[in-house]
Amino acid sequence: MGKKKKKKKEVIKEGIIQAVAAEDTGEFARRFEAYHDELRWLYMELYDNGSMFAELCDRLGQFYRERSAALKESDRKREADPGWYKQNDMLGMMLYIDNFAGTLNGVKEKLSYLEQCRVNYIHLMPFLETPKGRSDGGYAVSDFRKVQKKLGTMEDLEGLTAACHEKGIRVCMDFVMNHTSEDHEWAVKAREGDGEYMSRYFFFENSYIPSLYENTVPQVFPTTAPGNFTWLPEQKHFVMTSFYPYQWDLNYKNPRVFNEMMYNFLYLANRGIDVIRIDAVPYIWKELNTQCRNLPQVHTIVRLMRIISEIVCPGILLLGEVVMEPEKVTPYFGTVEKPECHMLYNVTTMATTWHTVATRDVSLLKKQLDTVFNLPREYLFLNYLRCHDDIGWGLDYGTLAQNGMEERAHKKYLNDYFQGYAGESNSRGELYNADPITGDARFCGTTASMCGIEKAGFEQDDAAMERAIRLDVMLHAYMFVQSGIPVLYSGDEIGQVNDYSYKEDPDKAGDSRYLHRGALDWDLTARISDKNSVQGRLFDRLGQLEEIRRREKVFGSDASVHTAETWDRSVLCVERCFGKEKLVALFNFSETEKTAWIEAEDGEYLDLVSGQPMRAKDVKVPGYGFYYLKKR
Ligand code: GLC
Repeated sequence: MGKKKKKKKEVIKEGIIQAVAAEDTGEFARRFEAYHDELRWLYMELYDNGSMFAELCDRLGQFYRERSAALKESDRKREADPGWYKQNDMLGMMLYIDNFAGTLNGVKEKLSYLEQCRVNYIHLMPFLETPKGRSDGGYAVSDFRKVQKKLGTMEDLEGLTAACHEKGIRVCMDFVMNHTSEDHEWAVKAREGDGEYMSRYFFFENSYIPSLYENTVPQVFPTTAPGNFTWLPEQKHFVMTSFYPYQWDLNYKNPRVFNEMMYNFLYLANRGIDVIRIDAVPYIWKELNTQCRNLPQVHTIVRLMRIISEIVCPGILLLGEVVMEPEKVTPYFGTVEKPECHMLYNVTTMATTWHTVATRDVSLLKKQLDTVFNLPREYLFLNYLRCHDDIGWGLDYGTLAQNGMEERAHKKYLNDYFQGYAGESNSRGELYNADPITGDARFCGTTASMCGIEKAGFEQDDAAMERAIRLDVMLHAYMFVQSGIPVLYSGDEIGQVNDYSYKEDPDKAGDSRYLHRGALDWDLTARISDKNSVQGRLFDRLGQLEEIRRREKVFGSDASVHTAETWDRSVLCVERCFGKEKLVALFNFSETEKTAWIEAEDGEYLDLVSGQPMRAKDVKVPGYGFYYLKKR
């Protein structure tokens, strides 16, 4: 680098730091100084645009100044205790505001129910303005600074986050940064032919370039929204739409897009959001002749976001939505020196769990868990059984092939099984994006329906109901034994089943994910105090497990975790060790009694659930049963 150039750079840097310092306390300047060089380096690498960088720095200062005193105080506390979210006391729940309580203020009124559920982290599903009927469940945002009218206002959001913080509940929201709705003001202006705004998306006059992209870019919604481009007849242009035709992909090669989206991100963070879920993050950078997934520039952008949040609002966490195979997921943690996301979804484990339910064979799950357990303990995963999306059956087909299971046939088996058509299945649910060409299909259904609660309830079969509840509880017990943050899907705490009413709503009928996005039935929640009801039985048993998880240090993220052989294909053994404490957990994925042929260290163990002393040797585990055996 030439001497002259270096000097110029230094002058700019000093200028910015002085400008910032002049208006601020030492805190912001300290953080800014610590990250400036890397921030500038990465920004210039992507955009080589000094004036846009200067504008960004300026606005960071502004967002810092606008941040409330209470949030700044919480930032300081979390900065002083960077592992604050890695304890074993976190329990999450994801919920749609309207389904849960109508409005943001309604959620505020229901906080005591969430406390009863022992939940201290809530993910509010998309609530920003979105066009009716073209919303993709709120993932097509038309205004990043406005709440959907029917749900409330930005002030209501701030009121809710403040009320949550008072009760020690953290709040997560989606930041849908890959695309905007076609009704977003940028899209509206682009549609009018304004070049400045067209350059914020991907526009093409004819099909030539789009067809080149189509050669290499896979489809997200092959049946409900085929192709990656949409023809706009009035504009006589194609626009890139990787998801639905009304979700226009943003062009992050344009620094204006990056800057403005960062301002939106900080604006939302300043409303009191603790966790920002970066939606569809692998897709945010596009290059011809690639799959347009996980490109290196995506990681630069996530690292930039991390730095920006460390400077302005270090108390917030970034949660990456990376629904990909494991080797694509972990890079989103970044490195220890240059971290990107704080947390990621444990998606392959989730899909492998349901594969295990269908096959009663834990071998693939054991392998998958070992892979996750061997990752650095700094990596924090969100564990879940079901979320608002379909299950994509992203399994390790290489390993399955060694046992004669071929991908296409096995996916078909899983889909048939969970629809209740194959094997010893009691599940109920529906396919999602069944693609007749590739034979691929995904799956929708609630945890309870997939465990057999819907079928047993319909058939009024008490024995089947008890079995279904046992499976449901065992799956939660198994989820809780993993390190990270367990997240329930609203309704799972009472075994809420599929909701078929979406078929009567023309805005939803085409998207079977609404099957597991039904409104919470408050009449059913009222039954949790009735110990004989399905709801009461589930709620109680899950509550007991949550208490154990919170109380016992051996469930913390610092514990070492590994699986052990049980010599029975249906029984999984997970061991957790922390200091002198040891937990041997056994899970039977079949409906009949099995023996775990284990021989843990001698001595007495205590089953934390029943409180009974037990030996951890050749343990008989009842059908769909489990044990949490703690060494005494
Ligand atoms: C994420 C969301 C999904 C949505 C997609 C497009 O994957 O989880 O529901 O359809 O992004 O924004």
